[in-house]
Amino acid sequence: MSEDIILSRGTKEEQYKNLIPQIQAIISGETDQTANLANIAACLKQQFGWWWVGFYLAKNDELVLGPFQGPVACNRIKMGRGVCGTAWEKGTTIIVEDVEKFPGHIACSSLSKSEIVVPVIMNNRVIAVLDADSEHLSHFDEIDKTYLEILVDKIETVFS
Ligand code: SME
Repeated sequence: MSEDIILSRGTKEEQYKNLIPQIQAIISGETDQTANLANIAACLKQQFGWWWVGFYLAKNDELVLGPFQGPVACNRIKMGRGVCGTAWEKGTTIIVEDVEKFPGHIACSSLSKSEIVVPVIMNNRVIAVLDADSEHLSHFDEIDKTYLEILVDKIETVFS
C-alpha cells in the first residue's frame, strides 16, 4: 500500500473533504491503535501544517499524551485542567482564539497562540481528545470544528 496522501490546495472545507476519506482509507488497513493515531496526526500535520497536532488518551483520572506531530508536549493533564481537560470534562469541542485569555491554559509551547480541542466520544464517554495548536491567533473556526468532529466520528473504530 502506498503511504502517500494527496494534499489539497483548495479552501479549508475542500482540504478537509479531500483529507478525511484518505485518513479513513489509511486506518482501514491497520488494527493497531498507536499506528493509526500516529498516521492521523501525520495526515493533519501534512495538510494543514499546524504547530502541534495529536491525541491525548483518557486513562483513569488523567489524559495521557498519545501520538502527535510537533514539539515535545506535556505528558499528563488532569480532568478539568487546561483546554484539553476542560473539553474532556464537558464533552464538547473548545475553540480558543487566544490561549493567553483561556484561564488555566497549559502552555506546552510558548509559541502556541490558538487552539482547538475535539473530544472523541464513544458510548457517551470521552475516551480521548484531538488537540491542534497554531502559532497564529484565531486560527481555528467553526469549519475546523465541523470537520474535526466529523473526523473523530469516523475514526471511532481506532478506539474499539
Ligand atoms: N494547551 C493544552 C495542553 C496540550 S498542548 O497544547 C499540546 C491545554 O491547555 O490543555
